[in-house]
Amino acid sequence: MTATPTLEVHLQPEQLREALRKDATIGLTSNPKWLPPKWFYDARGSELYEVITTLPEYYQTRTERALLVAHAAEIVALASPEILVELGSGSSEKTRILLDAARQHGTLHTYVPQDVSVSALEGAAEQIGSEFPNLTVHGVVSDFTDSLHHLPGGGRRTIAFLGGTLGNFEPAERAEFLAGIADVLGAGENLLLGVQLVVDPSILIPAYDDAAGVTAQFNLNVLQVLNTQLGANFSLDAFRHVALWDAENAWIEMRLEATKSMTVRVDALDFEVDFAEGEQMRTEISAKFTPDGIQAELAASGFTVQRAWMDPDDRYALLVVTRN
Ligand code: AVJ
Repeated sequence: MTATPTLEVHLQPEQLREALRKDATIGLTSNPKWLPPKWFYDARGSELYEVITTLPEYYQTRTERALLVAHAAEIVALASPEILVELGSGSSEKTRILLDAARQHGTLHTYVPQDVSVSALEGAAEQIGSEFPNLTVHGVVSDFTDSLHHLPGGGRRTIAFLGGTLGNFEPAERAEFLAGIADVLGAGENLLLGVQLVVDPSILIPAYDDAAGVTAQFNLNVLQVLNTQLGANFSLDAFRHVALWDAENAWIEMRLEATKSMTVRVDALDFEVDFAEGEQMRTEISAKFTPDGIQAELAASGFTVQRAWMDPDDRYALLVVTRN
């Protein structure tokens, strides 16, 4: 029996544009200026991110994949999911590993990929649907910070939040986000979390400043998003990519630095912003965790770590955590 995947849309293009207008207004008028990383991922940005995941310096994705391959059977045995929800599923590329293991285990009946991108979801849902004909595939288009209340019930759920995306939140937002997950899960339901660990800056920094310059293009692309979506006139040539390690906060920070002083017009917001030469605008934080630190944060949010797996170099951790 092959059912057609269904798609539930909680985020209309107009809402997305309104959110971008709001974020750009706040971020570009702040001092220092900043933009949230979610605006990297238009079609071009998503493509560039896919390239990043294959770069020699960017160890994160392949490390996570290896952990999933090695431990998928144990993960599904521990969590025994009936419904697998994947937050920020994108192309669902790594999910196949879990879905294969789940098919063997036999409890899973529904896969719920969630993403902001309709196109990514449609493609992924269709492919997974045809590869796993016994699975009900129900995509949810939403912003994952407010998607949790749109997640279907009807069985024991595991929410997968992979890729280290938790690191994009500031600590307070992170606590709120984890509390939100704890809120929708019932006792005994699980979260499968992938987090990037603190490693030496000599390894971390090149992962965000690769020799081929793909991460630089990815970073600069957010200016193109503002140009296209908000009628801004950023000159991408007038900015350079910066990646730095903030040891105190234990996060990588990506910034765009103005290489000359300039005024940028943003038509859709009806304002102009001045940049001084050398001024830096923050475009992303990507926090790294210690095993004890993430365990403490999870405990504070009402979760118990069942098991954690790390790669041999201790760069990445995959955790199965249960709602108390
Ligand atoms: C998608 C948030 C996990 O922080 O490593 C990659 C995004 N930014 N290179 C990360 C990213 C620059 C990535 N996450």
